[in-house]
Amino acid sequence: MSFKESKVVIVGCGNVGSTTAYTIINQGLAEEVVLIDVNKDKAYAEALDMAHSIYFMNRNINVHEGDYSDCKDADIVIITASAPMPKDSKNRLDMLAPSIKIIKSIVGSVMENGFNGIFVVVSNPVDIMTYMVYKMSGLPKNQIIGSGTTLDSARLCCELAEMYGLDSKSVSAYVCGEHGDSEIVSWHSAVIGGKSVENVMADNPDRTKDITREDLQKKTIQAGWDIFNRKGNTCYGIAASTTAICKSILFNENHIYPVTVGLEGQYGIKSAWLSVPTIIDRTGAKEIVEIRLDPEEEKALKKSAELLESFYGDLGL
Ligand code: LAC
Repeated sequence: MSFKESKVVIVGCGNVGSTTAYTIINQGLAEEVVLIDVNKDKAYAEALDMAHSIYFMNRNINVHEGDYSDCKDADIVIITASAPMPKDSKNRLDMLAPSIKIIKSIVGSVMENGFNGIFVVVSNPVDIMTYMVYKMSGLPKNQIIGSGTTLDSARLCCELAEMYGLDSKSVSAYVCGEHGDSEIVSWHSAVIGGKSVENVMADNPDRTKDITREDLQKKTIQAGWDIFNRKGNTCYGIAASTTAICKSILFNENHIYPVTVGLEGQYGIKSAWLSVPTIIDRTGAKEIVEIRLDPEEEKALKKSAELLESFYGDLGL
């Protein structure tokens, strides 16, 4: 009898990659976690630092620095490497041009080593990067997932929970589309304790005050920048949301998260890669969920898809 051990490789050991590795270790999600970075010393040091933390954790995990040959038998390869965000940037799409070469070289190296697991793409602009990984890897669509608006949805739930003095996990709301300015909120499906957010807002004027749905959407979009402008990066939220996606893969959870996936006619979108609620299991993006959007939301989602697709021609694929 043999037990299959799970292995996660993380490419890019900056703030996002390292924090994601540490979150995965802290939650004891895999037997082996491998860190790869162009700066091998950085990957080695991060892995060694994390290895010492295992002493205090619930289970033993083999965390180490590695190279692309580690991808051969990996269950998941998480890509967090990207060009640095320009300091005065206000749009993740600014990272596109400098990140294209980096992603191409990473995907080439991963695939040369016979990887056949699930890619979880985190590098920004994440929706376009996820599409690139799909095109370059030659893997089926279900094996490519972008972290997408999982984090934005959590940010919206946190915002609503704070307004009404609740546990954010009692709020369920999906942000869909681009992880960026053109994202939309599906208000129709947003609920707090089984009651629609629209009704909660209307029934609690003292706590809702004059905050509108538009204000909440703006705040959700702005949240990443509120962090980035003060500390130069974001890492904990994205690491936690990426870890949640990986957990649903590794534990075959069938959890639904709004992640970047390749649409094939759902929501009237033929071929763009952007976030919509998706069932995630050990095969990756198992099934896209079609929630009912308002006509205005559906129009905005299509616009978001068009915006993202307008960049596809410049990727040199
Ligand atoms: C953020 C980054 C990951 O929104 O785009 O925190």
